[in-house]
Amino acid sequence: MKTMKLGFIGSGFIANFLASAMKQVRHCELAAIYDRGGAKELASYAKENKLGVPKLYRSVSDMCNECDVLAILTPNFTRIDIMEQISKAVKEGASLKGVICEKPLGRTIAESKKMVDLAHDVNLRTSYFENQLHMNVVNNALQQLLPQRKAMGNITLARSTEEHAGPHSSWFWDPTQQGGGVLSDMGCHSIAICRHILTPPGKSPTFLEPVAMQCETALLKWGQPKYREMLNKKYGVDYSLTPAEDFSTGVVTFRNPETGQLVKGQFTDSWMYDKQGLRLSMDGLGPGYAMEVNTLISPLEIFIGDEAAEGAADAETALEKSTASRGLLAVQPNEAHLYGYVNETQDAIDCFFEGKDAFLDWEYGLETTRLVQAAYMAAECQKTIDLTDETIKKDLENYSSLISQGRGAEVLYS
Ligand SMILES: NC(=O)c1ccc[n+]([C@@H]2O[C@H](COP(=O)([O-])OP(=O)(O)OC[C@H]3O[C@@H](n4cnc5c(N)ncnc54)[C@H](O)[C@@H]3O)[C@@H](O)[C@H]2O)c1
Repeated sequence: MKTMKLGFIGSGFIANFLASAMKQVRHCELAAIYDRGGAKELASYAKENKLGVPKLYRSVSDMCNECDVLAILTPNFTRIDIMEQISKAVKEGASLKGVICEKPLGRTIAESKKMVDLAHDVNLRTSYFENQLHMNVVNNALQQLLPQRKAMGNITLARSTEEHAGPHSSWFWDPTQQGGGVLSDMGCHSIAICRHILTPPGKSPTFLEPVAMQCETALLKWGQPKYREMLNKKYGVDYSLTPAEDFSTGVVTFRNPETGQLVKGQFTDSWMYDKQGLRLSMDGLGPGYAMEVNTLISPLEIFIGDEAAEGAADAETALEKSTASRGLLAVQPNEAHLYGYVNETQDAIDCFFEGKDAFLDWEYGLETTRLVQAAYMAAECQKTIDLTDETIKKDLENYSSLISQGRGAEVLYS
C-alpha cells in the first residue's frame, strides 16, 4: 500500500506531539514542514524516528504541490490566511487530497464558516482534529456499556474537565489572538466530549440538538497582581488591561430529536490547576450504570527524592504540562495514544485514502465553534440562552465575545 505524504504547517507543541503519535500510525510519512520556529528540530526528529525525510518549505503553495495532505498546526489567528493560500494553490492545480485543522476551527463562527467555505470551494476532504473523541479510554467504556445503554436507556449526564496550570506560548494568553481564554482553548474539547458521551449508539456526532447553554467565565488566579506580573514578564501580556478567563464552567443541554429526551453536559476548564500536570476527566451517568475517566491515574508512578531531583529537570517527559520534577510523579507511558492523537491521525489518513471526510469534518468543527461561542454569550448575559431561538441563533453568527475583543476587564473584573 502507498503512503500518504503529510505536510505540517506549524512545528510547535502540537506538531511535535503529532509527530510522536505518527510512530504508531500506518501508511503515512512526514514529507514536508513549513520552515519556521522549530521546523529543523522537528525534521531531525522525523528522520531519527523513520517518519520520513521531510523537506522544509517557505511557501504553503509549494507544500500543496509536494503533499497529499496538509495539517494546519499553527496559532488560531493564522488559520484563514493559511487556508486561503491552500485554496488558491488547489485552484491553480495542486492535487492535494485533504486538509487537517487543529481545534478550534476558528475564533468565531464567522471564521469557522470561512474555513468550511474555503475547503468546499476547492472540493477538499477535511479532518477536524478533536482528539478527545478518539480516546480509547472513552470509546472502550462506551462500547463496554453498549448492552446497558440499549437496555436501560442512554447516558443522560456527561461531565468533562480539562485542566492544567496554563499554556506554553504567548499567543494563547492573548485573547485577541487566541479567541478568548481557557473556554476557547479547552472548552471546545470538553463540550465536544460531553456531546459524544451523550450521543446514543450508532448516531452521528451531531445527532443531538443543542437547546440551551449556561456558562460562567472567571479569572481566579492569573488576574491577581503577583500572577499578572509573572504573565507580563514571561509572555508579554498585560492582564490588568486585556485579561482572558482562566476558569470556565457551564451546562449544555441537548435534545434527542427522535424521543424528545433532554440530556446534559457539564463542562469545566481551567488554567489554574496547580496539580501534577494536565488532567482530563470524563464521567458518563446513565440509569443504573456509569463510566469514569481520569488521565492522572496511571499504572506507572515514579518517585524522585530531593537529592535526585536534578536528574529529572525536564518534568514534561513524564506528563503534558507537568508542574513538578520531584516527589511521587504520575507518568503516562503513551500520552500520544491516551489523548487520541494516534487514532485521529490514523482516521484522517484512512478516510482520505478512501476519498472521504474524516470522522470529524470541518462542519463538525463549525458546530463546536457555535457551542463555544454560545457559552461565551451565556456568560456575558449571565443567563441561560435558548439555542433554538431564531434571534439568538442569528446574533451568534456575527458574535465575538468581549474577552476576544480585548475587553475582558469589563466581564472579568466587574
Ligand atoms: N488538540 C490538542 O490537544 C492541542 C494541544 C495544543 C495545541 N493545539 C492547537 O494547535 C495549534 C497550535 O498550537 P501549538 O501549541 O502547537 O502552538 P505553538 O505556539 O507551540 O506552535 C505554533 C507553531 O506555528 C508556527 N507559526 C506561527 N505562525 C505561523 C504562520 N503564520 N505560518 C506558519 N507557521 C506559523 C510557529 O513558528 C510554531 O512552529 C493551535 O490551534 C492550538 O489550539 C491543540
